[in-house]
Formats: sequence, C-alpha cells, structure tokens
Amino acid sequence: MKVLGIETSCDETAASVVEDGRLLVSNVVASSMALHAKYGGVIPEIAARSHIESIIPVISDALDSAQCSWKDIDAIAVTNGAGLGGSLLVGVLTAATLAIGYDKPLYPINHVIGHVYAGFMTDSNLKDYVMPISLPEFPLLAIIVSGGHSQLAIFYNHLDYSLLGRTRDDAIGEAFDKVAKILGLPYPGGPNIAKLALKGDVKSYRIPEAKLDSLYDFSFSGPKTAVLRLAQSEIGENFNFPSFELSKRLSEAQKANIAASFQYSAIKTIVTKALVAYQHYLPKSVVIAGGVAANQELRRQLLEVIPSSKLIFPDIKLCTDNGAMIATRGFYEIKSNRSPVDPYSIDVFSNLKM
Ligand code: KG4
Ligand code: ZN
Repeated sequence: MKVLGIETSCDETAASVVEDGRLLVSNVVASSMALHAKYGGVIPEIAARSHIESIIPVISDALDSAQCSWKDIDAIAVTNGAGLGGSLLVGVLTAATLAIGYDKPLYPINHVIGHVYAGFMTDSNLKDYVMPISLPEFPLLAIIVSGGHSQLAIFYNHLDYSLLGRTRDDAIGEAFDKVAKILGLPYPGGPNIAKLALKGDVKSYRIPEAKLDSLYDFSFSGPKTAVLRLAQSEIGENFNFPSFELSKRLSEAQKANIAASFQYSAIKTIVTKALVAYQHYLPKSVVIAGGVAANQELRRQLLEVIPSSKLIFPDIKLCTDNGAMIATRGFYEIKSNRSPVDPYSIDVFSNLKM
C-alpha cells in the first residue's frame, strides 16, 4: 500500500510517498525558512503564501521521484493540526481537492503524533538516510521535542495513547531559538546552538533546570531567562541593556560556553523526565521525535541511561517536519481500521491536542 503524505503545518511544504508504512520511497521538502530568517521567526502570512506557491510542484516532485502515477497511490494523508491556520489550510484544501479528483481515501493526521511515526520507517529507497534497524514495539515511550511542542507520551498501540507531560511554557526548540537570538545566531537557532556548543565547555556555567512538582511536565522559560541574565552579568550590564545588543559584547568563547551550558541543561531536563517515565512504564521502545530530536547531545545523553536496543533514532532529515511521517501515520490509521474523512468536510485545527 502506497500512501502520499502532505505536511504544511509551519514553514515546510512537504510531500512524500511511503510504502506499507515502512519503506521511504520519496521525500520532498521545500522550506520557506530563508524568507523568515531575517525576521528571526516564522511569519504566518509569508509561510502560507509560500505553501501556495510550492505545494503542487512539491507533490508532483514526490510522485515523480517515487516513479508513481496517481493510480499507484492508495490513500492521501494530510496534517490538519496543530499548526498555523493559514498554512494548514493550504495543505488540507490541496489534499481534499486531490482526493476528490483522483477518488482516493483521505486521512487527517495530528502533526505531533505524526512526528512519532518518523521512527516507524525502517527502509529507504533514497540515498543518505540512516534508518532504524527494527520497528518500534508497544508500549512505546515517545519523547516529542520540537519548535512548538515538548511532550512525553505513552502509546499502548496505534490508537491507544496518552499524554504523560508537556511544557508549561516554551517548547524546547523555541527556547533554543530564543537563546540563539541572545547569542546573535541566525534562525532556526537549534542547529546553530548545537554547532557552537561543540566549541564550548558545558561546565563553564550552570544553567538551572526548572523545578516542577509534576513528574513529567517541563518548563523552558526560566532557563532561557537565566541565559539572558547570565549574558548581561558577563558583560557587566543590568537588565535594562537591550538584549539584541548583547551578542556584540560577548566574546566567541563566552558565546560557545553559554551555548554548551544551555544545551546540556535543556537536554538534561528532557532526559531526566524521560528516564522517570521509562522506569515507571517499562516501554519496549523509546522513540525520539520532532526537530530537536536531531540534536546529538540528546542522543548522547539518552544512550547513557537507556539501553541502545530500546532507542529508536529516526534519520535527522526525518526529525524536522516532513510528509513521510504523515504518510506513515496514515498507513497505520488505515491498518487500524480508521475511517477516511469526507473530503468535503475536512477541517483544520490550529490547537489540535493529542
Ligand atoms: O519539528 P520541527 O521541524 O517543527 C515544529 O513542529 O516545531 O522543529 C523545529 C525546531 C526548531 O525550534 C529548531 O531550532 C529545532 O527544531 N532544531 C534543533 C536542532 N535541529 C532543529 N534543536 C536543537 N538541536 C538541533 N540539532
Ligand atoms: Zn513539527
């Protein structure tokens, strides 16, 4: 069974063909990131306009590189939440129109759950993808860390899952992006912090982790503010000093040390809570998902506390937003006998919950 997955929830216009929820056949991603970079974050109107321009070429490209025609496609899966309303609408309306025109069943997919399914693809027809050796098994602990979400969830099977904890304020990726701004690094901050952190010493500063009474919830707003205060005190200025001027006064060594210390502490928060969940639920697999799952420090810290045989690390290119994870989740919804949606009444939900 071949499923076409379409994803447009944020700034990536993405489409992919996945066979039997296992084999990555094509994966096309057009990002409007460069257009947002100069504003230091995603501008919803620009993202939606870019999706309109890119969506048909991206879908055609995904079918062509999969050497598929429409008759080879068995179903269409599309992200219908959570995300930016205008961006979601472009993907959903395109998918619905194609489903009607080519008479294909249509499946709406939750973006956050979709991220977890990047871990279910074990084979690839494409070069340069490092796929997990084995399929995740249930119960499955999902560590979902992205620009919009930080949550821990337990999956007992494809349709039976529950949220264990989530961020009370900023998502971890958002905190990476904000700390990057303080250090004068371009958007998106996560990969740039990770790169700079390689040159720094994690022991140079102690960024405190937020203490919460809940076992599995996170908070990243405090650590982000701690970085701001640290940068201010390092250059001998008080909190009235404009934050956008800070990076000019910090040395390269100070920036690298702050990046390393922040990354270590933020990742430690995730890994500590994930370990508590691991010890309580004794999952057979632990899947990392979302843009921050690309972070090597996260992978390193997890390998220190959880047996490598249980850890599923998707290819870095499948951690950030893509259509393949949506197609894969679509496949498993079909296999779980979920009914397709009426393409004339499919809707988008910006705040869709798990
Ligand atoms: O999953 P994603 O592509 O979009 C959302 O659904 O949010 O995640 C994007 C986020 C951004 O905040 C970006 O800074 C972060 O993932 N990110 C990283 C890394 N690569 C991307 N954060 C830390 N380390 C990385 N290597
Ligand atoms: Zn995402």
